[in-house]
Amino acid sequence: MNIEIRQDYPALCEYVGQQVIQTLKNKPDALVCIAGGDTPLGVFKVLVEASQQGLDLSRAAFVGLDEWLGLGREDKGSCREMVYSHLFDKLPLRPDQICFFDGLTADPQAECERVDAFIAEHGHIDILVLGIGMNGHIGFNEPGADLNNRCHIVPLDPITKAVSVKYFGGVRDVTQGISQGLKTLLEAQQIIVMANGEKKAEIVATTLNSEPTTAIPSTLVKNHAHCTLALDTTAASLIK
Ligand code: F6R
Repeated sequence: MNIEIRQDYPALCEYVGQQVIQTLKNKPDALVCIAGGDTPLGVFKVLVEASQQGLDLSRAAFVGLDEWLGLGREDKGSCREMVYSHLFDKLPLRPDQICFFDGLTADPQAECERVDAFIAEHGHIDILVLGIGMNGHIGFNEPGADLNNRCHIVPLDPITKAVSVKYFGGVRDVTQGISQGLKTLLEAQQIIVMANGEKKAEIVATTLNSEPTTAIPSTLVKNHAHCTLALDTTAASLIK
């Protein structure tokens, strides 16, 4: 696994954003998947600017990584709210270019099948940008996740529930997520795992110091042929 360290968050986002842009220039019909959450917000900005400056997105496709079950666009902090308001709403995309989990679905299993089918139609994800949870989760693949999973419903880990307050601005009764699984994620052509800030330093160091294990899902990308761990200096501060 390649490690890239940038001085600060804007520089980190510029690096990651340029990787996505390069993928889209090399393969205009690429399938792109970028996490929700706080980590990629600056990457969204880089992509919106690139689009305003003429990056052709007319053949690109975007797929969601995960969602809180029971939350929709109107819910502050849902993945849909974050990714649409910071990215999709600002890009000239047609609805058929986006496949995003509907957290309000009455039939989560059918929702999993719909998202899996969209990815299968495109073959695989061309570039995947992940954040790291405080417990090492990637997407909502929590510690102990099954390597053979594609889209699936996940009971949320207590750490994930505790951290979720930062998105929702308070406690919400969310107990399950819907997420792409490790099998699909590890089939991506290129993976970038991003982390910034001091609070991620410990899980970043743990990820680097551990053998790949499903107990720490972020370690599993280490065996991937084209994976980069992209950090700012504070997230990298405990690396020995
Ligand atoms: C969000 C997601 C999560 C986050 C992770 C880090 O769609 O899949 O795995 O990437 O929890 O969250 P932030 O970026 O808020 O620190």
